[in-house]
Order: sequence, then C-alpha cells, then structure tokens
Amino acid sequence: MTFITDIVSSYVHEAEVSAIKHMAMLSAKVEGAASLTWGLPSFRTPDYIREGVKTALDRDLDAGKYTLPDGLPELRNLVVQKHLMETGIEVSASNNVMITAGNMQALNTVFHTMLDPGDEIILTDPCFASHIQQIILFNGKPVYWPLDEANNWRLDLDRLPQLITEKTQAIVLVSPSNPTGKIFTEQELMQVGEIARQHNILVIIDDPYRDFTYENQHKYFNLASIDRFKEHVVYMYTFSKAYAMSGWRLAYMIMPEELKREAMKVHDATMICTPRISQLAGIAALELPSNHKQEFQAILRKRRDLIVERLSNVPHVFSWQRPEGAYYMFPKILVDHVDSKSFAIDLLHNAKVTVTPGSAFGPSGEHHIRLAYCVDEDTINLAFDRIEKYFVT
Ligand SMILES: Cc1ncc(COP(=O)(O)O)c(C=O)c1O
Repeated sequence: MTFITDIVSSYVHEAEVSAIKHMAMLSAKVEGAASLTWGLPSFRTPDYIREGVKTALDRDLDAGKYTLPDGLPELRNLVVQKHLMETGIEVSASNNVMITAGNMQALNTVFHTMLDPGDEIILTDPCFASHIQQIILFNGKPVYWPLDEANNWRLDLDRLPQLITEKTQAIVLVSPSNPTGKIFTEQELMQVGEIARQHNILVIIDDPYRDFTYENQHKYFNLASIDRFKEHVVYMYTFSKAYAMSGWRLAYMIMPEELKREAMKVHDATMICTPRISQLAGIAALELPSNHKQEFQAILRKRRDLIVERLSNVPHVFSWQRPEGAYYMFPKILVDHVDSKSFAIDLLHNAKVTVTPGSAFGPSGEHHIRLAYCVDEDTINLAFDRIEKYFVT
C-alpha cells in the first residue's frame, strides 16, 4: 500500500484493464506468439479515405481547429443520410446526432450521463468486456442476462423482465455479437424493444459489426429502424471495423433529443470534440461509394471457414457454435483446466498461442475462450498447428 493506493478511487480499484489488452501485452513479450486475441482487423484504412484526408488537409485551413462539440455539420448530415438509408428513419443532425471518438467514448458518455451510484445496466452474458468495466467505473452495477448457449447463444427473453428493477437504466445489445458471433433475430429484438418501452428504459445498440454478416445478412435487424422505439433507443456505429479506422477513433451516436442535450454536457467537459482530422476522414469515408466492405467480408469469410475447419480438427479440445457474424468464435474448453484465465496463460507460455479468456466477458464466459479471426490466414494456421501439437490425442 502506498499513498497512491489511497488516492485511487474505489471504482478504479475495482475495474480491470480489459483481458483482451492484457493478453495482447503478455503476448508481445512472447516472441513469435500467434495471436487470436485482439479484434483488430488486419486491413488498412482504404486508400480513398486516406486520399480524401490528404485533400481535406490541403483545402481546409481550419483542419487543425476544434469543431462544434457534437461534430462537423457536414459529417452529421452524411450520418443522417446513412442512417436514413439503413433504417428508413429520419433523424435531425442537430438534435439527434453526436460524433464521438469511437463507440467506446460514445458508451462512456452515455453511461456517465445516466448512471447514479448503484444504477443498473443489463448486459448480455457473455458481453463485450469493456461494457462491464465502464459501468463499474461510473459506480453503476452490471446486471447479467445469461444467453442461451444450448441454442447458439440466443437471447433468453423469459428471463429479461425479472432482471428489471427500479434502478435499471438500460439494456446493452451487440448484434452480431462480440464475443459469440450471434445475430439476434428481429423477433427477439422487437420483444426487447417492447419490454424497454413498457419499463421506460433505454436500449443501447453498440453496433460495430453490422457490415460483417456474410451469408446471414437477411438475419440482421436494427431496432433503430422502428419509429415507435425512437425515444428508447441509442444507436452507436463505429468506423473502426468496417472502414478499418480503429486508430482514427471515430463513431457516431443517434439518440433521443433530450438525452443528447444532457450528454453534450459530458462530451463537452471531457472531449470538447472528436479530433477534427478524424472527422474529415469520416466525411471522406461516407462521401464516396466504395466496395471495400464487400472485399473485407469476402476475406473474413474465408478466414471464418478456415478457423471453423481447424476447430473441427480438435473436437477433444473445444466444443463450439458456428458464428453468424462479426469475426469472433467463443468455444468451450473441454480439456482439463482450472479456469479460462489460467488456460489462456498456459496456452501462451507453452504453445505460443494467444487467446482471450472467456471469463472477461461475464460469468457465463468462464470455461470458454474468445478467438478473433480477423487476423491473416497464416496466423490462424500457425495457431492451430500449435494447438493440435500441444493437445495431441
Ligand atoms: C462491441 C464493441 N463495442 C465497441 C468496440 C470499440 O469500438 P471503437 O473502436 O469504436 O471504440 C468494440 C471493439 O472491439 C466492440 O467489439
């Protein structure tokens, strides 16, 4: 114990650095490790966006300045058009749209805006690990809604109403899901929307993977496309994955007008604005048509087929569900082990393969690992060659 221990808040003490980054840092110390831990696509930002930024830097004499806190009007207008095309819902650039530094900052802003100490947010279990940590950092309480693993991680709607209390503020959904790859059905999502409306709570849709649905595109459904849920849905879309712009830190959020007014106080006090250079990149990304998403999907689909094939060769090590979207798989560990964390550390040190322990994604994630197949095929093959050798039958 030092004086620093004393001055760090109890919430920060309780929170953890995400297991994904923790494993990535451990992995960096093991030379030649084959890493399937981080959901960081191997793609680089498409050329038309990079070129667009170069041109904008030459032309926009204010490129180095702050923007309005909720973002450049030109980008917000492009977002309005994109959202209209995708959902059929017309929103207002000034009342409903906020440009953020990634979905992480959008989530942070919204949780900060809505959480009083002890307030509850319902998370699917398993869920995206950082949702848990963010809620803890605002002294809120994550309430776990176990998914139905036996039915390919589907939503268990019978259980939802029992989880709602007078402290519940919101339900967070990711579909296609990180970490399971599940796409929730229209029927399930509509029921969540109705329950949220009845109880006057929000549904936060964190949507990085809508563009990665492969042959299951018809299954994707966006609750933000239903007009009567407009006041109960916060929709977040990031450029990180589908535009390969994770380092630019750029996303947008569509939200009810009153919530935006309140959230602006948080966003302004913490960020002032999303970096202008990234917003210029966002304008370039949305202004021109591009087929890079189809190209990314074709590559990811091949990688998915490869990882599924390689997993099929080790049925004594893992059981697993076929993913429908995103670029993750969430197999269950069948070999002897203590817990998913020690399994992952053992695998790294003894087989030089990096995976993320499932326990980071909520209690139901224990005894699973998350595999991210957004890395190149050589890495997937190397990882599984090593897994096969390590767990010889
Ligand atoms: C569900 C989910 N939300 C948010 C993020 C982070 O998004 P961003 O880069 O926009 O902050 C990720 C990244 O893996 C994610 O999987």
